[in-house]
Amino acid sequence: MTRLLPGLCCFSFLLAGVFCSQFVSVMEGDSVTLSVRLTETQIKDGITWRFGPRETLIARMKDYKTTVYNDDRLDGRFKNKLHLNNQTGSLTITNTNITHTGLYNITTKSQDKALNIFNITVYAYLPIPVISSNSSQCSSSSSNCSLLCSVLNLRDVRDVSLSWYKGKSLLSIISVSDLNIRLSLSLEVEYQDTNTYRCVLNNTITNQTQHLNINDVCQICSAPIHGHIVVICCVVVGCLMFVTAVLIFWIYRKHKATS
Ligand SMILES: *[C@@H]1O[C@H](CO)[C@@H](O)[C@H](O)[C@H]1NC(C)=O
Ligand SMILES: *[C@@H]1O[C@H](CO)[C@@H](O)[C@H](O)[C@H]1NC(C)=O
Ligand SMILES: *[C@@H]1O[C@H](CO)[C@@H](O)[C@H](O)[C@H]1NC(C)=O
Ligand SMILES: *[C@@H]1O[C@H](CO)[C@@H](O)[C@H](O)[C@H]1NC(C)=O
Ligand SMILES: *[C@@H]1O[C@H](CO)[C@@H](O)[C@H](O)[C@H]1NC(C)=O
Ligand SMILES: *[C@@H]1O[C@H](CO)[C@@H](O)[C@H](O)[C@H]1NC(C)=O
Ligand SMILES: *[C@@H]1O[C@H](CO)[C@@H](O)[C@H](O)[C@H]1NC(C)=O
Ligand SMILES: *[C@@H]1O[C@H](CO)[C@@H](O)[C@H](O)[C@H]1NC(C)=O
Repeated sequence: MTRLLPGLCCFSFLLAGVFCSQFVSVMEGDSVTLSVRLTETQIKDGITWRFGPRETLIARMKDYKTTVYNDDRLDGRFKNKLHLNNQTGSLTITNTNITHTGLYNITTKSQDKALNIFNITVYAYLPIPVISSNSSQCSSSSSNCSLLCSVLNLRDVRDVSLSWYKGKSLLSIISVSDLNIRLSLSLEVEYQDTNTYRCVLNNTITNQTQHLNINDVCQICSAPIHGHIVVICCVVVGCLMFVTAVLIFWIYRKHKATS
């Protein structure tokens, strides 16, 4: 999934005499193409693509001949992932990962300032949030279950929201940009509640949902006692059946002996 947001800023930026930058969101693993419209003169004269704060040269084209720097520069993050269209000058990055996030800058020989700047954000896949009970000991007195929705594996993930939904309505939401913190959101429901609840983790382009099954997560205190009763009943019934069988056998033997 790729989203190009050629913001309205473009227009105002141009008016202000500043080059415009195009925002691009892409899901990790997907390809993204940075499309440009070049004149024949620009292609003949030559263009260069640069990336990052150091404006590292990653691709160039002159007179329809292309060179891509698919080598070990920039930690090899672009290795075998760059493709420059020799007709249009558009640059494609395949199998993106989050290290491709940053500014991409295309310049022409004839012009000093950037012709186009692309601001790319590669989003990592989101983990599925986990719902757990938030009460250490079960409370037989309360008819409520205290829940916690947490995100356990937030490596490489940023700018996300975590929310609880009841049916279609939003109950609570928290948004974070720094993910070196533990992300969780609490909810209190009644054991008897028949509404559907879900916990959603999302960023601007994707989301992951965990549905709540109250019976799975919320333990009622009396449950183990019920369990004991069942076990005791089974033992008692088993004993009774054994005794009955022995009794019948004994009566049968006795009856046979007397006849
Ligand atoms: C991104 O790609 C580089 C080079 O292939 C690799 O070293 C790095 O581990 C990748 N990062 C992620 C988060 O996949
Ligand atoms: C442009 O690329 C196509 C294939 O992608 C190739 O067949 C063609 O020879 C290339 N043209 C030049 C001038 O390099
Ligand atoms: C784009 O590249 C040109 C030439 O390298 C440089 O002068 C300019 O500062 C760059 N702009 C940005 C925003 O990276
Ligand atoms: C690129 O875009 C992101 C948001 O999409 C923004 O936070 C960041 O400041 C932009 N970078 C530049 C250099 O404009
Ligand atoms: C349960 O959630 C509350 C927030 O409502 C929080 O203050 C508390 O620390 C949580 N308890 C546990 C055991 O996580
Ligand atoms: C139980 O939860 C409901 C909301 O689901 C709340 O209105 C009620 O006050 C809670 N009761 C107790 C005893 O915490
Ligand atoms: C998550 O989705 C909500 C509702 O669709 C949206 O308002 C919010 O901005 C999204 N969060 C992020 C971090 O994009
Ligand atoms: C999650 O994404 C799906 C599409 O992938 C969308 O239909 C749904 O509305 C999103 N849910 C939320 C809560 O943003």
